[in-house]
Amino acid sequence: MPVVTSALPSWTRLRLRQSAHLRDLCSEISFTTAHLIQPIFVVEGLEGTEPIAGLDGNSRLGLHAGLETIGRDVAAGLRHFLLFAVPSHTGSATADGAFAARVVEAIKRRFGTQLHLWVDVCLCSSTADGHCAISDERGRIDLAATLSALGDLAVRVADAGADGVSPSDMMDGRTAWLRQSLDARGHQPVPIMSYSTKFASQFYGPFREAAGSAPRHGNRAHYQIDVRSRTDAIASSIRCAEEGADLLMVKPGMTSLDLIAPIREATARLVGAYQVSGEYAGLCALGREGLADVDAALLETWHVFRRAGAAFIITYGARRARAIGVPA
Ligand code: PBG
Repeated sequence: MPVVTSALPSWTRLRLRQSAHLRDLCSEISFTTAHLIQPIFVVEGLEGTEPIAGLDGNSRLGLHAGLETIGRDVAAGLRHFLLFAVPSHTGSATADGAFAARVVEAIKRRFGTQLHLWVDVCLCSSTADGHCAISDERGRIDLAATLSALGDLAVRVADAGADGVSPSDMMDGRTAWLRQSLDARGHQPVPIMSYSTKFASQFYGPFREAAGSAPRHGNRAHYQIDVRSRTDAIASSIRCAEEGADLLMVKPGMTSLDLIAPIREATARLVGAYQVSGEYAGLCALGREGLADVDAALLETWHVFRRAGAAFIITYGARRARAIGVPA
């Protein structure tokens, strides 16, 4: 047996790379704006817009500005949005549900079936301590109270017309609880896109500023996954799939590329990647320093997500996709 098999003759590589037509012929990865999801922050009581530090092209939006922004995005070929409804005060999950429902209603009244509206379901913008769960004074999670509040929130936004819900809290059993709560209200058709493999990460900084959801004490390491754990990371998505998640997700996307294909194979579900705020902001910062062409860099990362097996990509750069050359 030969020890070394012959490599691809280098002339073949050179020949096939010499023109755009040949490079396009040999390309295996493609996607359209239909595979991209644009996050959107609508803030209660805000007039106009407020920039979000680091997240170029993204702002905190009052409801009116939110509708205008979505209108421009739809015209630019986007169909999928992930809504973060940010309440003006903390301490009342019920009041937040009401605000989120008002925003969903307004968006669906204006745009109907022109878009698919996913709604993030979490409590971190409404709990006083900025955590994703309801905890007692010693910081221990009250799972029953948390699940009940999450279920109420999901049902409220579904009643208001949400096209899908996306639980990001990472509490055990929340996907099953949401499915059961939705079904009990006749919302069987509403899909659940679970944040199924979500790591404790340094890359959520700009988001937490935008959503007012930075933990006031401690961190989220007791309910988000440790980056050193591969088995737990895959098991977390398997659990979500078994609990009834329709779509799965890894997050942060760029630091979880290795997990996308294994999760898809283990669950037979489509897996998306969330290019999170710190990842996107990092690319923007490179651009500002004159060290990278941001548009080209973004396109590069999106191709890599697809190469790794991602079905869809949640990215703060979605609204520039058409301008960058992503087909509709
Ligand atoms: C809230 C939530 C977070 C993100 C999405 N939903 C922050 C967190 O878990 O602390 C992060 C998104 C981003 O950084 O773009 N549970």
